[in-house]
Amino acid sequence: MARLAKVGIIGAGWPGSAHARGYQAAGGYELYAVADLIPARREELVKQFAIEKQYASAEELIEDKFIDVVSLCVPNHLHAPLAVAALRAGKHVVCETPPAMSAGEVRRMGHAAEKSGKTLLFALQRRFGGCEQAARQAVAKGLLGQVYHVRAAWMRTRGVPSGTGWYTHREQSGGGAMADLGMQMLDIAWDLLGNPVPQTVFAAGHNSLCPRIDGKFEVEEAGTSLIRFEGGKCLELSAAWAINQPPQQHGAVCRACGTQGALEVYTQDGAVLYRDFDQIGKCKAIALKGPKMIHHGAMMRHLKECMLGKGKPQTGAERAAILMEMMQAIYKSMETGKSANV
Ligand SMILES: NC(=O)c1ccc[n+]([C@@H]2O[C@H](COP(=O)([O-])OP(=O)(O)OC[C@H]3O[C@@H](n4cnc5c(N)ncnc54)[C@H](O)[C@@H]3O)[C@@H](O)[C@H]2O)c1
Repeated sequence: MARLAKVGIIGAGWPGSAHARGYQAAGGYELYAVADLIPARREELVKQFAIEKQYASAEELIEDKFIDVVSLCVPNHLHAPLAVAALRAGKHVVCETPPAMSAGEVRRMGHAAEKSGKTLLFALQRRFGGCEQAARQAVAKGLLGQVYHVRAAWMRTRGVPSGTGWYTHREQSGGGAMADLGMQMLDIAWDLLGNPVPQTVFAAGHNSLCPRIDGKFEVEEAGTSLIRFEGGKCLELSAAWAINQPPQQHGAVCRACGTQGALEVYTQDGAVLYRDFDQIGKCKAIALKGPKMIHHGAMMRHLKECMLGKGKPQTGAERAAILMEMMQAIYKSMETGKSANV
């Protein structure tokens, strides 16, 4: 890239500043503009990152001809319309997650990207963490043999996101803990399984704690599901914004089991590979080294490669649409109490 790519960030909450730090860490970008409906929020970002321009709405920022890349850090129901508008205006787009409200919306976003020839990358940033990258590499090298079972959970003891008030409204969020935290874990876990074709889902949602705090809570505070894939591989996926559990259980778990080994993604020592199991299950533990560039910095570096045509988005529309199909089946099963086809 001869010149720095000019970035416009829409939505100046936590993810907006995380994207800004990611662009800085990756290099090759100029943080150029920010848009937010709340003046204090956009001013904070302008101050923190010495951003040149600020806009009062997404639409105005998208019209700015100088902007090359747009980061969409807005409530979920706005992802599809704003991504399509930005792609049509000739911008590359990094869109926050969950990707959209449905698989159909994600496909429409994908078509807009194809038509414009621009990159559309969904910000499933957890996959760019050090442990997660090390785990993926171990699986890709075949160190676990065939991975057939993954258990993934992100369980917050107390951690309902407040945002600007939309997270617990189904029409704006699309779902609760599963859509929010479960989506990131689903992305990682499905990768570790080798991205097999999903078939059926059985799921249940819970609302045992939060309705007592806020009567308008329209989404699940916690959920659990079992996803079965072609060939019998399976994935246990759980997520919680609020659950009664001892403090040490707060956080993420991801364990993969293969024909020749196992993997624990989150430990105090980073990702750990277990190999050479004997008859009684004793095995050798090997701590895996992660890369130096991680999280949003690694994600924005990957974006740069995609923009330059040197790679394809790890989490583009095709993958995001299947993730959304699995998530939609999870919600269907929660609602009906029956298994749902993906
Ligand atoms: N990847 C992650 O780790 C992660 C973490 C947190 C949130 N998120 C995702 O990021 C997105 C935003 O979440 P949040 O917590 O920042 O929400 P938030 O409500 O705190 O912030 C959203 C911001 O968007 C602004 N906004 C809304 N409509 C706008 C418009 N038309 N033009 C300009 N600004 C507009 C709002 O004023 C608000 O400041 C969601 O999709 C959420 O799921 C992802």
